[in-house]
Amino acid sequence: MTITLARHAGFCKGVQRAIDTAKKVGENHGKAVTLGPIVHNQHVVDYLYQYGVQTIDSIQEVKPDEAVVLRSHGVGKLVYDNLQENNISYIDATCPFVKAVHKLASKAYKENKTVLIVGDPKHPEVEGILGWTEDKGYVIKSIDDIENLPAINGDIVVVAQTTQTGENWNQITDCLKNKYTNIEFFNTICKATSERQEAAIDLAKQVDVMIVVGSFKSSNTNKLTQVCNLQGTKTYQIESKSDLNKDWLIGNHSIGITAGASTPDWILKEVIEMVEEMQNEMIDVKAMNQGDIV
Ligand code: F3S
Repeated sequence: MTITLARHAGFCKGVQRAIDTAKKVGENHGKAVTLGPIVHNQHVVDYLYQYGVQTIDSIQEVKPDEAVVLRSHGVGKLVYDNLQENNISYIDATCPFVKAVHKLASKAYKENKTVLIVGDPKHPEVEGILGWTEDKGYVIKSIDDIENLPAINGDIVVVAQTTQTGENWNQITDCLKNKYTNIEFFNTICKATSERQEAAIDLAKQVDVMIVVGSFKSSNTNKLTQVCNLQGTKTYQIESKSDLNKDWLIGNHSIGITAGASTPDWILKEVIEMVEEMQNEMIDVKAMNQGDIV
C-alpha cells in the first residue's frame, strides 16, 4: 500500500503568520486575546493558550492589560473603529490577501458600486469583507442566491471569499455575466487555497482513498473534502489521528493525505505516522495468516 501526501497541504503563510504573531504577543505581553478562535482548529487554540493567548467573542470582554490580536480572517471597519475609540492596543494579523479583498470592497463601496461577495455568509472572513461595505453588500453562496438579489442599478463589483472553490466561483460568475453587463470581477481566491485544492484533486484522481485532515469548522478543509469527493474517490475527513479507522484502509492499495490551511503540521505528521503504523500492522497480520495456511 502506498501513502502519498498532497504536494500542497497544511498551514498556509497567512495562518502561520497569525499564529506566530499571537504567540509572540502572548510571550512578550504576558496576555493576548483574539476576537474568535485564531484559526478554526482547536489544537492550535490549545497550543497558543500555553503562551497566554485566549479567545474572546467581543471587544467588550477585553481587559485593560490585554492586547488584541486580529486573526487572519480579518474584521470589518467597525471593529477597527471600536478598538481605536476605546484605546485598546491591537496587533493586526489579518492575512494580506484578505486585506486586499477589504481594499477592493471598500473602494467599490466608496465609489457607490454594489459589492457582491461569493462566499459563505456565516464565515467570519465574509462578515469582515461585508463590514467594509457597511453591510450593504450581498453575499452569494450558490447560484440560487442570484435570483434573490434585489434590482441593482449602477456598477457592480464581485469578489470572492479567499477559500472558495474555483468551481463555485466559475458557476456563480458565469450566471452573473448573463444577468448583468455593468459588472467587474475580481477573483480573490487565494493561491494557497487553489494550490491545495488542485493538489488534492490531482492526488484524489490517483488513489483509492483520500484522508483530509482538519477541523469541520474550517472552510478551506471542508472544501478540500468536497473537491476530493467530487472526483468519486472515497474521502474521509478527520480532525486528528484518533479519528482514523483501520477499516478504511482494508482492500485499498493507495492512500492520499491532505490537510487544510489551518491544520498544524504536527497533527498532519501524527496522522501520517498512524496510517503507516496501521499499514504495518495489516502487513504483519497478513503475513501471520499466510503462515497459518502454510
Ligand atoms: Fe491567507 Fe490564503 Fe491562508 S487568504 S490565511 S494565505 S488561505
